[in-house]
Amino acid sequence: EQKPLLVCGSLNADIIIEINRFPKKGETLSARSPDTGIMVPGGKGANQAVAAARLSAGTGRQAKFVCQFGNDSHAFKLEQVLREKEVDIGNCGRSNKPSGQAFIFLEEDGSNSILIVGGSNVAWPKDVNAFAQQIRGASAVLLQREIPEYVNEAVSEVAVKAGVPVIQDVGGEERDFSDAHLKRLTYICPNETELERLTGMPTSTQEEVVAAAKSLQKRGVKNVLCTLGADGAVLVGPDGSVLRQPGIAVPGGKVVDTTGAGDCFRAAFAVAMVEGKPLEECLKFAAAAGAITVSRYGAVPSLPERKETDALAHWRGAAAS
Ligand code: RIB
Repeated sequence: EQKPLLVCGSLNADIIIEINRFPKKGETLSARSPDTGIMVPGGKGANQAVAAARLSAGTGRQAKFVCQFGNDSHAFKLEQVLREKEVDIGNCGRSNKPSGQAFIFLEEDGSNSILIVGGSNVAWPKDVNAFAQQIRGASAVLLQREIPEYVNEAVSEVAVKAGVPVIQDVGGEERDFSDAHLKRLTYICPNETELERLTGMPTSTQEEVVAAAKSLQKRGVKNVLCTLGADGAVLVGPDGSVLRQPGIAVPGGKVVDTTGAGDCFRAAFAVAMVEGKPLEECLKFAAAAGAITVSRYGAVPSLPERKETDALAHWRGAAAS
């Protein structure tokens, strides 16, 4: 039997508002589309969990998600979606706070700006005893930063003692990581802006990204996997080796909405990694999954299936630098 992938993190009711531009201070503007503002399921944790489930479908591996549901109508809808997507939510808690929300301002070119209201995502129990067994039994654990840091710290502690790889996303929280937590990470996955913030080093060229990644490794983290948007990703290994994955052209040619693409990239990388694929393959699979995600609207609804991801990853000629 395949050990499940475990995602521990946030879930949000994403409220997407399509805009032409941000209003200036004191200015009132209408949204680009009057029909948006509806709730779409999201949250970095939920996005990774659904991506892991969809990309593992048919392989015999399950995706488990541990989160804290809220007490409102959004929570009911979010729970229903996770069940429909066949994510195992048997170890989730429930708080008496409303669901987390993310207000997503989506521009015509598909780029976004996101403001999060934590809600139930910040109401976690003080320890991880309730799901320690699930951590120990996982093939890998995926973490993000929209839940309290003490939860991530406790999860990585249990995981590392059990020899379970930990993959840490960086988005969602500005504060630095503790050195103890960094030492327990198998992969840290910032984008170039987050890598710059973490290291205080420039990251505008790939050479700069590699140098910044190596300086982060001095704090104990083993691998740095830095995503570069349309330019793909760079992976710096513990021995200083560098793998570069060029961006994969977006199917259909139009970037509709980049929300959730980074989450999907990281989950896809984890799926391929626990399947034992070579790192080059893991990166290609992740880049393909991310490219499909940006061609669709919303976070959870945009996440790809295994078949289409495999097809894009192996379509010769798809790669663009
Ligand atoms: O990474 C994308 C996600 O960030 C959105 O789904 C939103 O909920 C925020 O958490």
